[in-house]
Amino acid sequence: MAKTCRRPSHGPAWKARVAGSMKIAHISDLHLTVGGEARMAQNLEMLVAHINALSPDMVLVSGDITHNALLTEAERAAEILAKLTAPYYLTPGNHDRREGLQAAFPAAALPAEQQAHLSYVIEGETLRILALDSTDPDAPNGRICQARAAWLEAALGQSAKPALIFMHHPPMKCGVEETDCPPMQGADLLAKVVARHLQIERILCGHVHLPVQALWQGRLVCAAPSVGMRLSWSPNARASSQYFSSPPAYLWHMQNSDGGFVSHEFTLDDPAGPFDFT
Ligand SMILES: [Fe+2]
Repeated sequence: MAKTCRRPSHGPAWKARVAGSMKIAHISDLHLTVGGEARMAQNLEMLVAHINALSPDMVLVSGDITHNALLTEAERAAEILAKLTAPYYLTPGNHDRREGLQAAFPAAALPAEQQAHLSYVIEGETLRILALDSTDPDAPNGRICQARAAWLEAALGQSAKPALIFMHHPPMKCGVEETDCPPMQGADLLAKVVARHLQIERILCGHVHLPVQALWQGRLVCAAPSVGMRLSWSPNARASSQYFSSPPAYLWHMQNSDGGFVSHEFTLDDPAGPFDFT
């Protein structure tokens, strides 16, 4: 039986929005630390201010909220994310500890009812969000077990309404050795569920620390960039795993008036402009 959350108690009543207006800010891979470099926290603060100015209906945070899985890191993230004016929702990443996230964040941000995996459904009038916990301590690139595949199958079977799956790990290979090897365990189980449910509009994830899009099982998978750690990557050469200190960045997914979805990327790198095209 799918676990369906109650209406979140925080933020504006996004369920009351009319069809065609859904706007979702999607941030990922915050990797917050405490006591050391404050850059990631500063980037997150900048993103929160930018997102608040755009008034989305909700904010999705697709994992790796902490860098060392520490409770203090989760508490620091919760302190900053509490400044969001829209409701926000989390899914854990491989750098997080489930218990730490549950202790640091309000239940409304992580409304899973079962403990084995922190998966849940956000029910909206025009859209459903299915948060799928893809983490496993022994699988750094994610794992979908039989129980989670069955949970997703049941959740998707409850409604044919347009749906987004929201998880930390991309299910497909990204051409990035760090996230492709080893591949996600149980991706075949997930593929079978996804292929059966045509209402899935997007699979939103993070983990790769690059903005990546791919068509997988006929659905668009959108990996959000990290809040400030962009992977050093080349399609031609394998380099040791490194990252750049990158400007704050996130994705914006929007339900258009025609019912379709479009995704944009914001990078807060303070470019010159804007300039007229004429
Ligand atoms: Fe990450």
